[in-house]
Amino acid sequence: MEKLNVYLADLVGAHAKLQNMHWNVVGEHFKMVHEYTETIYRQLYEYIDKVAEYMVMNGKRPFASLKDFAENTTIAQLKSEEYKAGEVVRYSLAIVRALKESAHEIHEETECYLLQGLLEEQIASYSKHIWFLNSMIQPSHR
Ligand SMILES: [Fe+2]
Repeated sequence: MEKLNVYLADLVGAHAKLQNMHWNVVGEHFKMVHEYTETIYRQLYEYIDKVAEYMVMNGKRPFASLKDFAENTTIAQLKSEEYKAGEVVRYSLAIVRALKESAHEIHEETECYLLQGLLEEQIASYSKHIWFLNSMIQPSHR
């Protein structure tokens, strides 16, 4: 459960970082990146609740304060300043990859099929976001 709590803190950290970039993105692909970061952080917001409730259901205390989240997340935060759309896509890709890796690790270690199911859904959506984000940063040939 310790790893799951860190994963929870990472979901909160990822949500905050994506919303920061959603607000501060500038440049040619503003609208697309502004909207796409929102799609991701809205999904993470749901996962935060699902993971925390799973913990409570199983007799564990989830981190629940901003202080605990900030102290335990492995997602480094950004200052509130302008970020180019390409930078935002790269940062987002790194965030989603990190979440996928943690979810995968926890999935490997647990024998609880409820938790496995929860994480499988999340890993599937991370995989799709990785595909999308990675495709956005491929060089154009035209
Ligand atoms: Fe917004």
